[in-house]
Amino acid sequence: MNFELLIQEAFKGREKAYVPYSNFKVGAAILTDSGKIYNGCNIENASYGATNCAERTAIFKAVSEGEKEIKAIAVVGSPEEYTFPCGICRQVISEFAKEDTPVIIAKNENEFLVNRLDEILPGAFTKKDLIK
Ligand code: THU
Repeated sequence: MNFELLIQEAFKGREKAYVPYSNFKVGAAILTDSGKIYNGCNIENASYGATNCAERTAIFKAVSEGEKEIKAIAVVGSPEEYTFPCGICRQVISEFAKEDTPVIIAKNENEFLVNRLDEILPGAFTKKDLIK
């Protein structure tokens, strides 16, 4: 899997960030099992709670196109520090990913961390708890 390409796509998503309130741009990109890549940005709102994170934008774009399986996700926030997905985004990733799905947290194409999803969301509550 080409993590560098996914990071580049996350940066492309980041360019579109709509962040008039925090001025904190985030981009994300997911690779799906069909082989397609979807990117996304954070989209803020005057009613702050209505803000959508970059990860969820990318995931919702993909799912709305019929995708159901995330093979990898890359996230880029501040290029100076690693920006980990927020708790809500970890939960949404878990809906469409597996325990060992790589979550790539990048400062840039050369500096990135790779965590399995279950390392950043241990003991996740998922469909396995509901669908028997
Ligand atoms: N943000 C994301 O896009 N993803 C995360 O995982 C963390 C937070 C955004 C939401 C908001 O627009 C800004 O970062 C500051 O919280």
